[in-house]
Amino acid sequence: MADVYGWDDGGEKAMRAVVYDTYGSPDVLRVADVPLPIPDAGQVRVRIAATSVNLSDWEGLRGSPLYARIGGLRSPRVRTLGSDIAGSVDAVGNGVTRFRPGDEVYGDNLRLMGGFAEYALAPESVLAHKPPSLTFAEASTIPQAGAIALQGTSGISEGARVLVNGGGGGSGSFAIQQAKRLGGHVTAVDNAGKLEHMLSLGADEVIDYNHDDFTRVGSYDLILDLIAQRSVFAYRRALVRGGRYRMVGGPVPVLLGVVALGWIVGGLSDRRIGLLVVREGPAHFEPLGELCVAGDIRIPIDRTFELAEVPDALAHVGEGRALGKVVVEVR
Ligand SMILES: NC(=O)c1ccc[n+]([C@@H]2O[C@H](COP(=O)([O-])OP(=O)(O)OC[C@H]3O[C@@H](n4cnc5c(N)ncnc54)[C@H](OP(=O)(O)O)[C@@H]3O)[C@@H](O)[C@H]2O)c1
Repeated sequence: MADVYGWDDGGEKAMRAVVYDTYGSPDVLRVADVPLPIPDAGQVRVRIAATSVNLSDWEGLRGSPLYARIGGLRSPRVRTLGSDIAGSVDAVGNGVTRFRPGDEVYGDNLRLMGGFAEYALAPESVLAHKPPSLTFAEASTIPQAGAIALQGTSGISEGARVLVNGGGGGSGSFAIQQAKRLGGHVTAVDNAGKLEHMLSLGADEVIDYNHDDFTRVGSYDLILDLIAQRSVFAYRRALVRGGRYRMVGGPVPVLLGVVALGWIVGGLSDRRIGLLVVREGPAHFEPLGELCVAGDIRIPIDRTFELAEVPDALAHVGEGRALGKVVVEVR
């Protein structure tokens, strides 16, 4: 039995959550009253203040690309989406040592999700103490996108030519700034409506992907691809000798091509082409939080929505209108 503080009987109480039972468009989402979850051993219950939207939420809603169905081939493996949470600890399970009720926390709850609700359970290990100077909304933007941006830009040296494909979205907006901090010359690619946004984040050059194919107009030391659409041969063409391509997201056929052929196509031409498997957890996003606190990296929040507007928030990201991050404020 979980050791719960603050409630007599959590199972009797209800909360509001945005739920879905089948993959589909935002129309399949609805607000429902569901039982208040009780933390198991090692888990924390967070009273959600804000949850940011990631493309992975949209992919989990649609069940596409296919990797979004891992653990739930025919129907979703979770009823409530939302992984990048920020809020206050409300109850803790047995064995939790780092948090107490009342602590302000943030983290990427990718396994359990559940952030588009009034409360969510999360393993203690995915959470960090929220820096006091960040709002909950700001903190919620950092865990997943920040970890991707930090790992995706690691190793950049002064003057390196860096390309960020999908630079106007959540991870890209952090990655552009971090690549500039490290001394890179940054080319950022996205749709025409996001070019000004990417320039405002420090990009040196921008490309509209509907107008130009970046694999044909330049060569780079590092390509960070948040939304891969091309073949490994195109990526090889766009890299200088010794250059590196990192795929973060994209359709399964492209992913399989990168995994199966990237090492050999790259290796034979003195380039490295591969998948970036992003390491999760506080150690991987807190450094970005510190950069935001110090004012070295700007938190690019495009819009905030309320809990009942989660379908609109997901569509805003999934249909490509978001400039940077989108946040759902639960209270
Ligand atoms: N590898 C890992 O371990 C790992 C871990 C977590 C997440 N991910 C993945 O990371 C990816 C990025 O997430 P995110 O939250 O940063 O996404 P995001 O906020 O939606 O940003 C993606 C950006 O790419 C743009 N885009 C779409 N099609 C494009 C194209 N053909 N060329 C260039 N840009 C294009 C989008 O704009 P428009 O759609 O408006 O054009 C959007 O601005 C997701 O696919 C997610 O699954 C991977």
